[in-house]
Amino acid sequence: MILVTGGAGFIGANFVLDWLAIQDEPVINLDKLTYAGNPETLQSLQGDARHTLVQGDIGNAALVSKLLATHQPRAVINFAAESHVDRSIHGPGEFIQTNIVGTFSLLESVRGYWSALPADQKAAFRFLHVSTDEVYGSLAKDDPAFTESSHIEPNSPYSASKAASDHLVRAWHHTYGLPVLTTNCSNNYGPYHFPEKLIPLMIVNALAGKNLPVYGDGQQIRDWLYVKDHCSAIRRVLEAGRLGEIYNVGGWNEKANLEIVHTVCALLDELRPRADAKPYKDQITYVTDRPGHDRRYAIDARKLERELGWKPAETFDSGIRKTVQWYLDHPEWVAHVQSGAYRDWVQKQYA
Ligand code: NAD
Ligand code: TYD
Repeated sequence: MILVTGGAGFIGANFVLDWLAIQDEPVINLDKLTYAGNPETLQSLQGDARHTLVQGDIGNAALVSKLLATHQPRAVINFAAESHVDRSIHGPGEFIQTNIVGTFSLLESVRGYWSALPADQKAAFRFLHVSTDEVYGSLAKDDPAFTESSHIEPNSPYSASKAASDHLVRAWHHTYGLPVLTTNCSNNYGPYHFPEKLIPLMIVNALAGKNLPVYGDGQQIRDWLYVKDHCSAIRRVLEAGRLGEIYNVGGWNEKANLEIVHTVCALLDELRPRADAKPYKDQITYVTDRPGHDRRYAIDARKLERELGWKPAETFDSGIRKTVQWYLDHPEWVAHVQSGAYRDWVQKQYA
C-alpha cells in the first residue's frame, strides 16, 4: 500500500494510472480536489479495489493521521501542491498555505506514524517529495544546466513555496531521521494536463479558434519531459534512491516557448487541419510578459541516470505527437474541464 497525495492532478493521476497498470499494490489517493484535481481523470479506476480516492487536505492532520493508521502505507508520495506560476502571481496565499504549511503538516503527520512503526517497517518506509526545477531560479543562455547542488534561487511565489517545502523535507530528514527522497523535475507535458499551462492551452485554444497567447518575445526556454517519464523516474527513485538525496529529473529537451507553440501548430495542421486550410500559427498573438518571468530552465539529470540507471522513454518529438493526439481523442475530457461539469460531479460525489 502506498499513499499518494494530489493524485487527481496532472502528474499524480498519471502516476496512479501507470502504477496500477504495472502492478497491484493498492493506492490511497488523498486529494483536496481543487480546480486542478479531476476525478474524471481516474474514471477508469472506478470500482477497482486497488484504488481509493479520498477528498481531503494534506494540511488536515487528523485526516492524514487516520489514513496512515488505517492503511499502513509503506510510502507516501507527495504530489499535492498549487502548481501554476501565473496563479501564484495573482494570489500567492494558497501557495503558501498548501505548499509550505500543508507540507509541514503532512511531514508532521507522517513523522508521527513513521516513528511508531516496528523497526523493519520503519527502515523500509519512504517519504518521496515531488518538486520542481523552478526552485533553482533562472539560467542565462550559456549557463550549465541545474545540478542537485545548484543554488536555490526561486523567483516566483510558486517556486519560492516549493523551495520552502523542499527545505522542510530536508530538515525532517536531518533532524528527525525521516527517510525522505526529493525529486526536482523539469516542465512536464502529456495527457490530462489542465489547459491553463502552455502546451494544453495552446492545443485547446487552437482547436477553439482562439488566440495563442505567447508571453513577451516567446524566447524563454523550458526543459520538457513527457509525464510518463517523470512517473517512471519517481518509481525508480522510490525503489532505489539514497535516503535524504535529491534527484533532478529531466529530458535534455530545452525548447523556446515559441518553438513549442510552432510545433503544436504544425502537428494540428497535419492531424486536424483548420476548416479554412490556413495554418494554426496565424492564431499566435504576443501578449504582455509574465512579471519576473524566468528566462531559462535546464536540468542536468545525470545523477539519476548514473546512480539509478533511469532514462526517459520518449523523445520530445514522440511525446508531443502523442500529447496532441491525446487531446484530439479526448474532447469530452477537455469540454468537462472547461465547462466545470466535473466540478458539479465532484460536488455531487463528495458532498
Ligand atoms: P496539478 O496542479 O495538476 O495537481 C495538483 C493536485 O494537488 C490537484 O489534484 C489538487 O487538487 C491537489 N491539491 C492541491 N492542494 C492540495 C491540498 N492542500 N491537499 C491535497 N491535495 C491538494 O499539479 P501537477 O502539475 O500535477 O504537479 C504535481 C506536483 O509536481 C506539484 O508538487 C508540482 O510542484 C510538481 N511539479 C510539476 C511540474 C509540471 O510541469 N507540472 C514539474 C515539476 C514538478
Ligand atoms: P507554464 O506552462 O505556465 O509553466 P511554467 O511557468 O511553470 O514553466 O508556462 C511555460 C512557459 O510558457 C513559461 O515560460 C510561460 C509561457 N506561457 C506563455 O507564453 N503563454 C501562456 O499562455 C502560458 C500559460 C505560458
